Amino acid sequence: MENTVRLNNSVEMPRIGYGVYQIPSSITERCVRDALSVGYRSLDTAQCYGNEHAVGKAVKASGIPREEIFVTTKLWGGRGYKDTVVSIDDSLTALGMDYLDLLLIHEPTGDFHEIYRAMEDAHKAGKLRAIGVANFLEKSYRSLLETARIVPAVDQIETHVFRQQKAMKTLLADHGTIHESWSPLACGQNGFFRNPVLKEIGNRYGKSNAQVGLRFLYQQGIVIIPKSTHLERMKENMDILDFELTQEEMARIKALDLDRSMFGWW
Ligand SMILES: NC(=O)c1ccc[n+]([C@@H]2O[C@H](COP(=O)([O-])OP(=O)(O)OC[C@H]3O[C@@H](n4cnc5c(N)ncnc54)[C@H](OP(=O)(O)O)[C@@H]3O)[C@@H](O)[C@H]2O)c1
Repeated sequence: MENTVRLNNSVEMPRIGYGVYQIPSSITERCVRDALSVGYRSLDTAQCYGNEHAVGKAVKASGIPREEIFVTTKLWGGRGYKDTVVSIDDSLTALGMDYLDLLLIHEPTGDFHEIYRAMEDAHKAGKLRAIGVANFLEKSYRSLLETARIVPAVDQIETHVFRQQKAMKTLLADHGTIHESWSPLACGQNGFFRNPVLKEIGNRYGKSNAQVGLRFLYQQGIVIIPKSTHLERMKENMDILDFELTQEEMARIKALDLDRSMFGWW
């Protein structure tokens, strides 16, 4: 499997990225530099995480050419077209960048049709290489498709072994939108790191629960963005390319699906 996925406008996006949700801005620069040093080339931040500035600083300090790093951020609380135009520029300023690789609407609130229209225009103007959404489930995703001139390249939704989003996965694939997982480790909820099924399967390959859960998503073509503040775990979460789950193992993990949110947001 290639290490990048081709979005619907031919932009290549790494299949494994690094998320920075809940990382305090005071340590974000160090964490992102660590993540880049162990090989991550995709970073997922958001306006509401309050750490876009630190992400931008880390990218600059890394010395890695900007075009080798795929940067995603998400719009928060936009109300309409004009707000969004300003908001996109605010993110570019905070990150210290003149373009974003991917901009997502963080959640389907406000007049998301108009917000998306402004994103389409910013895409045309060259500020955004790709645009998409997050937390758009069936109703909001279908509603957006009715007015969108550009099919969302990505939908980033809660996806892990306990919420597998099987129906959304099919719907997104039918329309050419890439399925990206947030909280691919379930953020440790529901005993993820102690789960006996993941443990038993991991023991066969010398892999941890984290690696088995991530591999399960990766193997289905779902983009993953695990977060850790620890260097060793950052490495561990990338080290999932040297084993392959069998159909029987995939089926056992599929049976862990509870088909509900572990967080109660979307
Ligand atoms: N669009 C949205 O609404 C939305 C919502 C949530 C998240 N996200 C994105 O998705 C990214 C990932 O989600 P997330 O941060 O909520 O959760 P996650 O990546 O599923 O899990 C992160 C948690 O697992 C721990 N961890 C990481 N690797 C580990 C390992 N190998 N072994 C043991 N523990 C490990 C981390 O602790 P340590 O840091 O102490 O290692 C942290 O507590 C976010 O950072 C963000 O970019 C988006």
